[in-house]
Amino acid sequence: MPVQTGRMTDLVGTDPQYDVFADDFLDHAENSLHNAHYDRPFCLELLGDVEGKTVLDVACGPGLYAEELVARGARVSGFDQSPRMIELSGQRVPSGEFRVHDLARPLDWIEDGSVDLVLFALALDYVDDRVAALRELRRVLRADGALVLSRLHPTGDWMRNGGSYFDERVIDEVFSRGWQVRHWFVPLEKTCEELHEAGFLIERLREPRPSPLAKDVNPETYRRLCREPAGFLAIRAVPDPRR
Ligand SMILES: C[S@@+](CC[C@H](N)C(=O)[O-])C[C@H]1O[C@@H](n2cnc3c(N)ncnc32)[C@H](O)[C@@H]1O
Repeated sequence: MPVQTGRMTDLVGTDPQYDVFADDFLDHAENSLHNAHYDRPFCLELLGDVEGKTVLDVACGPGLYAEELVARGARVSGFDQSPRMIELSGQRVPSGEFRVHDLARPLDWIEDGSVDLVLFALALDYVDDRVAALRELRRVLRADGALVLSRLHPTGDWMRNGGSYFDERVIDEVFSRGWQVRHWFVPLEKTCEELHEAGFLIERLREPRPSPLAKDVNPETYRRLCREPAGFLAIRAVPDPRR
């Protein structure tokens, strides 16, 4: 999680910023409170039963989600803009299909309505044209499919960075292990509106609390995340049948 905030810029861009610390991210996210005991349990619950389903793991990182989804019986394909993340995913989940791809470009290898579930965990904040990216995710989803996404909780972004909560901007922050990351700061309303514009209906919106196991991992962060919306939030959205 962010430990230092910084300057403002116009766009995040397409530089694969996670590539240089992909191995360190894996080392951290495998068992960290924020990933293993906070984000993943909530997104997996929102995905529901994945047995026999095709799941597209968007911005799949090092394959931690893919590993769990395959263990639960899903057929997983995924992509990430970081080549090193894709190597790590392939090593971790040999049955998965992974490729280097940036969400800024269309998913031109995936047919319309061919995916049961799309998982988009902790990466929306890095995308400049989020409506275009979400439209592509809606296109590849089956009509009865669902998108599950998580993002930095906007209240947490605001508590760390101050200024106007409603002032959309790109910020630079240094995350937990000294990772320099550039991401969007947008209010919750903006994410809801972008999902609407892309043709989704929000079915559920969750503000995660850490799982009880997290208390042993980091008692202080556990207590803080039990009382403050300072971490992530998670949304399940479905294709709007009227559009
Ligand atoms: C915080 S990590 C999350 C990884 C994984 N979803 C997880 O939760 O374990 C963010 C990931 O998003 C990827 N990413 C960021 N912007 C992207 C983009 N425009 N297209 C594809 N991947 C992107 C990064 O390379 C990184 O692997």
